[in-house]
Amino acid sequence: MAKPMVKKGVQRILLCGFMGCGKTSVGQALSFRLKWEFLDTDAMIEKREGRKIPEIFAQDGEAAFRQMEAQTAASLGRRRNTVISTGGGFLMQPETVKALRENGGGFEAIVFLDCSFETCYRRIQTSDRPLVRNNTKEGLEEIFNARREKYLSVADVVIQNEGIISSTVEEIVENLAIL
Ligand code: S3P
Repeated sequence: MAKPMVKKGVQRILLCGFMGCGKTSVGQALSFRLKWEFLDTDAMIEKREGRKIPEIFAQDGEAAFRQMEAQTAASLGRRRNTVISTGGGFLMQPETVKALRENGGGFEAIVFLDCSFETCYRRIQTSDRPLVRNNTKEGLEEIFNARREKYLSVADVVIQNEGIISSTVEEIVENLAIL
């Protein structure tokens, strides 16, 4: 069951969750449903850098990528009527959450798309994501468990995303009482 939303006047929805939980697919469908703009923080970083994420990790390292995420968080504040899909590690850095909260004016809602590790792993195991390539399945499951606690602590709403996308989208809309 989703935790009920208490915040009113939501203007930005951030989707968070582990790699493969469906942030991009749900984000696109949700933005279509609400007629809001859709942004993806990974795509924003790739566009600004002119490089793909695996290249950024290989050339500059993960710490540099995390800084890029914090900069991206700070740039989201003026966005209105926007659904934002974030990378799986986006909200893991305290400075990223701080930048988001300080620049957001309190109008963003963070939605955690909760999904089992096995479901996420099935979707990401053959991908070129640096964390997937550099970890075993067991290592990834440890990261998943540690991060899940963090997602739960920063999220305003928790929604299960194991079923069909349209149901997840409706559940988000109902929980945020947007329409
Ligand atoms: C990462 C998740 C990726 C991407 C990068 C790092 C992570 O995004 O930001 O590879 O640390 O979990 P997705 O969650 O969209 O795969």
